[in-house]
Amino acid sequence: MNFTFIGLGYVGLVNSVLLASFYHNVIGYDIDKNKIELLKQGVSTIEEPNLQTLLSEAKTKLRFTSNAQDAISINNIIVICVDTPNKNGQIDLTHFNEALDDIARYAEKDCYIIIRSTVPIGTNKYTKEYLESRSKHKFQIISMPEFMSESTAVYDTINPYRLVIGVNNQESIEFAQSITPVFLTKKVPVLITTPENAELIKLSSDAFIATKISFTNSLAKICEDVGADIDRVSLGMSLDPRIGKSFLKPGIGYGGVMEETIDPNCWILSKKETNFEVVKAAMEVNKKQATRLLDKIFKKYKAVSSLTIGVLGASYKANTEDIRNSAAIEIIRTLLDKGADIQLYDPLCMDKVEKVFSRHTHIKYKNYAKDAIKGTHLVLILTNADEFKLIKPEDYISLMIAKPVVIDAHNIYKVNEMNGIEYISNGRKINK
Ligand SMILES: NC(=O)c1ccc[n+]([C@@H]2O[C@H](COP(=O)([O-])OP(=O)(O)OC[C@H]3O[C@@H](n4cnc5c(N)ncnc54)[C@H](O)[C@@H]3O)[C@@H](O)[C@H]2O)c1
Repeated sequence: MNFTFIGLGYVGLVNSVLLASFYHNVIGYDIDKNKIELLKQGVSTIEEPNLQTLLSEAKTKLRFTSNAQDAISINNIIVICVDTPNKNGQIDLTHFNEALDDIARYAEKDCYIIIRSTVPIGTNKYTKEYLESRSKHKFQIISMPEFMSESTAVYDTINPYRLVIGVNNQESIEFAQSITPVFLTKKVPVLITTPENAELIKLSSDAFIATKISFTNSLAKICEDVGADIDRVSLGMSLDPRIGKSFLKPGIGYGGVMEETIDPNCWILSKKETNFEVVKAAMEVNKKQATRLLDKIFKKYKAVSSLTIGVLGASYKANTEDIRNSAAIEIIRTLLDKGADIQLYDPLCMDKVEKVFSRHTHIKYKNYAKDAIKGTHLVLILTNADEFKLIKPEDYISLMIAKPVVIDAHNIYKVNEMNGIEYISNGRKINK
């Protein structure tokens, strides 16, 4: 089959590379000309395991362009994967609408439009009306929300838990059935339903995960207050199959694009408010996670202006270079504003962080985790990137100044292995 993808970020690039590697012909279009130049040279513009290899292997079936007409006029299956950020409590459809304008302008035949971007409820219907009022062609709109996670995007796309497809007439249903095998390499549940259901399944799945994350982070705070241990409490809970074990480890909150679309205030295209109180509470808890970690620092130190602080991790979660809505960035910014010297190391996102703090002279970027720790008074572990776990407790003692203090948001060490270190973890007793 022949596909055109509009928007080549995490969702669009991974999907287009995978479809090309399954021998479909794919045109990838993005407005970002630099991105297209790199992709034309065969360089992946995001860090995802196996993506670079798959991109190199699939190049004969994959063509990249920054020319919308070239991308849209040729194919009649167009997949929209543009970003849909939250601006002031509303999902911003500016980029989505620009994509629709291009489709209306350049489509040369009737088209199937597959929406993989996360969009408010009602967008499927709106898309059909928008396009057909601007073009002489007919459009069948298929809502196919994407459920991948960054850092496992290729794996998730090859091994989804389910495929959800929202359609509202017989022709779209038949088309949806015909493309299902294209997106699946193994048998998983396929739910063909209404567009509104599909749109809400995506939004509410993200919100449910966010709620679980905030639940665990709130529980970690209670563990600290009552002298319990979150690791043991989570383990005990997870042994109940009704609860399961995912998202029961504490951290500094969720972030990335998920942060943008879980806000139930922006779920309905035509209406502003929904009263989904549980999710709103989860959002409130999440907003406080950076402050909760900062409070641990300010409780220990009256002022941070004389401190050199090693920071391990700045992305919104481990093993991705994405810093969108990262609580780590907020923590670093607050500490710099209060006069601390920061030595940062992150395995993947250093270039992006340098751009954010380009005016700050008190942040140094280190090439190795141990260099970020060296000569510091305090170390903050803000993601659980795999390589941080290779730092041994004795490394902190030998590399840091005086008695080391380590604040670990992700509990990557056992409390009792941190002898000689003041080890302040998350939801567990402090090791002094
Ligand atoms: N990142 C994830 O893990 C993830 C998971 C599931 C769903 N989603 C959803 O998928 C959508 C895309 O997310 P993403 O993380 O891939 O975003 P992204 O920001 O990484 O990529 C979006 C791309 O779209 C391009 N773009 C913007 N407007 C365009 C236009 N008019 N024409 C062509 N290209 C345009 C941008 O240049 C960018 O390359 C969002 O709605 C997001 O909520 C993301």
